[in-house]
Amino acid sequence: MFYEPDKGNHGLPHDPYKSIVVPRPIGWISTVDRAGRVNLAPFSQFNNLGYDPPYVMFAAANFPRSPRPKDSVANVVETCEFVVNMATYELREAVNITGSAVDADVDEATLAGLEMIASTLVKPPRVAASPIHLECRYHCTLALPGRNLEQSHYVVVGRVVGVHIKDDAITADGRIDVLKLRPLARLGYHDYTSVESLFTMPPVGPHLEARQAGLAGKPPPATSS
Ligand SMILES: Cc1cc2nc3c(=O)[nH]c(=O)nc-3n(C[C@H](O)[C@H](O)[C@H](O)COP(=O)(O)O)c2cc1C
Repeated sequence: MFYEPDKGNHGLPHDPYKSIVVPRPIGWISTVDRAGRVNLAPFSQFNNLGYDPPYVMFAAANFPRSPRPKDSVANVVETCEFVVNMATYELREAVNITGSAVDADVDEATLAGLEMIASTLVKPPRVAASPIHLECRYHCTLALPGRNLEQSHYVVVGRVVGVHIKDDAITADGRIDVLKLRPLARLGYHDYTSVESLFTMPPVGPHLEARQAGLAGKPPPATSS
């Protein structure tokens, strides 16, 4: 089949698009507004951008039937900081609850029964039960026009300035234990997945030395010209 998203002519009972770019990791974003009120919401339009330094992005539509940006976007733009909390299978119900459309003065963390703890470098607090947190400083926003105001998206980019990893999320040989953490990811419809298996495939081809350095988390060796 072939269809054009602008025409919506897929002929299927549900729009297939959200099932195509999958799995999408979930950025569980905590922010504060100017008055210091805490906000927590999940965004599956989320990813890493670059490593040295690392940046992350999340993208949010406007509020339903509204030209108003969601609270997470408004808060980051106003207070210039956010935290990414790793969403895991164990925390899936809480993640879902914090995605409900509640008023700005409702603290989603309290609604989901989550304890929040202080961050080190930024004001927004962290989800205590989440195993990994990225403390971020706002870098920029990219506005993507939608076909209606509700579907305009803001891509918010932040620079990661601090990383917390719980000790028991690290294996004896010093790797993040993803099979234990089971990071949560979004599929289409109301479907989710989590990391339950992995396989290893060493890189092939040229520049293996640089790629090996990348694995070790170091900058690539300088090239001689
Ligand atoms: C797993 C999950 C993923 C979500 N991903 C997005 C997303 O990528 N973009 C978006 O605009 N809303 C997304 N939502 C909906 C928002 O979380 C929801 O609108 C939330 O109320 C926004 O909160 P805020 O206004 O406090 O920022 C998602 C919801 C869930 C449960």
